[in-house]
Amino acid sequence: HKFLIVAGARPNFMKIAPIIRELQRGSYPLEYQLVHTGQHYDKEMSDVFFEELEIPPPDYHLDVGSGSHAEQTAKVMVRFEEICMKDRPDLVMVVGDVNSTLACSIVAKKLGIKVAHVEAGLRSRDMTMPEEVNRIVTDAISDYFFVTEKSGIDNLLAEGKPNGAIFFVGHVMIDNLFHQVEKLQRLPENSFETADFKRRHPSYGVVTLHRPSNVDDPKTLAGIIEALAEVSSELPLIFPIHPRTQANIRKFGLEIPESIVTTKPLSYMEFLNLFKDARLVLTDSGGIQEETTALGIPCITLRENTERPITVEEGTNILVGSDPVRIVAEARKALKGLAATGRKPELWDGKASARILATLADVLNREGTYSS
Ligand code: UD1
Repeated sequence: HKFLIVAGARPNFMKIAPIIRELQRGSYPLEYQLVHTGQHYDKEMSDVFFEELEIPPPDYHLDVGSGSHAEQTAKVMVRFEEICMKDRPDLVMVVGDVNSTLACSIVAKKLGIKVAHVEAGLRSRDMTMPEEVNRIVTDAISDYFFVTEKSGIDNLLAEGKPNGAIFFVGHVMIDNLFHQVEKLQRLPENSFETADFKRRHPSYGVVTLHRPSNVDDPKTLAGIIEALAEVSSELPLIFPIHPRTQANIRKFGLEIPESIVTTKPLSYMEFLNLFKDARLVLTDSGGIQEETTALGIPCITLRENTERPITVEEGTNILVGSDPVRIVAEARKALKGLAATGRKPELWDGKASARILATLADVLNREGTYSS
């Protein structure tokens, strides 16, 4: 069977990497081609991830770039449709919840091509979040659902999905995390860009921020930066800045105080080497909530809700929203050693990709494709 794997934005790359590694290692009756939509295009948002995560160059690059949601989604759809019509794959595999995920699943489904969604079933129930819309629409039309945590099964069943199409397999992003942690152990500490920062600050916190709800409103963003400034008087902070956040800081005339060290977006290995030794992570990312849980690092999430509740129930994650007072209070608690400890969720064991591919080979053999 022939299938297309789709990736578009930074958080997709660490999810497709282990699947492709497993395809190259295993003997699955599956042939794949890789499509990069080009939703993220900066070297540090895309190319460095392909290099470090050992992802082969894409077979197709759609080169869509930035734009409004409609513009970006539409461009991916038009260009992806051409490829699907030419290639007639048996299946399209999409991962995560970015605009590229949504765009490609719609195109495939309307051409009668089966869709497998990796990281299906997650729900924040916050419809102001673009990713929540992407998740709901993608799952509404997918054929096979690969689920990272049990809440995903409950959500999909509640939405009427058949039990037999839902597969609880664990998390491909955690497969990748463990693979990279192992690689990291062979690299000398001084080969990292942040080596100097780490040497000067034996105890530090790491910040990431990019969600529209936190960075698109001047008052909210200013409040968060104020809170971070206060935290940084007790714990040195380092903040790799996403392009969207960087642009807004400039636009709103805000300033990051000198007590917070800022950097450009970091590569996967650079970021991993930084947060794995952090005392505390403050973030609004989805994936980082999970990676900190997998490594047992305290995480303060600057959101009111999460589509990944296992990180709060079993892991090290705490939701604090964007209220400066709560951010500072939770950071202080963590500094006193009162942060959540947590355990590793079920099936986050580095073998999710193998489970997914074995399942896919099996269902495609059994059920065939629409066209066959
Ligand atoms: C996207 C995903 C989000 C994910 C995030 C991680 C959607 C709806 N959102 O959000 O789920 O967590 O990626 O980064 O798909 N830009 C650059 N260079 C790039 C890419 C973007 O400068 O390589 C700038 C552009 O000004 C662009 C803005 O960042 O307009 C936002 O990019 P976009 O892809 O629209 O969404 P993200 O905020 O990155």
